[in-house]
Amino acid sequence: MNHHWPYPALIAHRGAGKIAPENTLAAIRVGTQNGFRMMEYDVKLSRDGVPVLLHDDTLERTSNGQGLASRLTLAELSALDFGAWHSSAYAGEPIPTLGSIAAFTLANQVHSNIEIKPTTGHEAETGRQVALAALALWAQASLPPLLSSFSEVALEAAQQAAPTLPRALLIEEEAPVDWPERLERLGCMGLNLNDRFVSQALVQAVRSKGYTVAVWTVNDAERVRELLDWGCNAIFTDKVTTIRPDTL
Ligand code: G3P
Ligand code: MG
Repeated sequence: MNHHWPYPALIAHRGAGKIAPENTLAAIRVGTQNGFRMMEYDVKLSRDGVPVLLHDDTLERTSNGQGLASRLTLAELSALDFGAWHSSAYAGEPIPTLGSIAAFTLANQVHSNIEIKPTTGHEAETGRQVALAALALWAQASLPPLLSSFSEVALEAAQQAAPTLPRALLIEEEAPVDWPERLERLGCMGLNLNDRFVSQALVQAVRSKGYTVAVWTVNDAERVRELLDWGCNAIFTDKVTTIRPDTL
């Protein structure tokens, strides 16, 4: 099957990379203000099962909380500050729910890549709940969000819960030799690859089998051009003020 990439070729990583607190509405606003029409963000579940944006399992790096985020309810997470760690300008920035981000991106015609980032041990539940939430939240969207995950368990659960939502398999290091079988089994449109392990031969192999390739996280403009020339469909970048869609 030949998979078409319907999304933009540049994707803002974690909303606005590093120039605003990652995975917050503030970051997604900054990415949007810089011309990005697609955002990647990481989603996991609160203790009471609400999909929220957060990269790490634990709270210390990106908030004033402590310990596992999965031990706190949405109400408890909402009492924390997810912006002050970045800079005082963002003090008080709350953790966003997937619902609040859906509302913003839909209102601003911005597409989404929802990276399902389960807390360890919660892979299937997270895949299922995030996919069901995305299906409902984006029911009226012109393009559905792309779901991706390093967790094949999460992707399989997402596929069962919401088979119509497109999926991509994230690969952390070297692509496993059986990547075609994995994509086929999970019904994925393609691979989202780590730039450090991407070769032209791999890109050509994936594209020639009819699958898509997106590469993270590329912060050098020359490398962005090279990867697109090789046939990559999309690039994730942190450099939202310098590697802008209007400079491609
Ligand atoms: O989805 C691409 C990229 O975000 C994967 O790595 O650690 O930044 O979530 P990470
Ligand atoms: Mg991510």
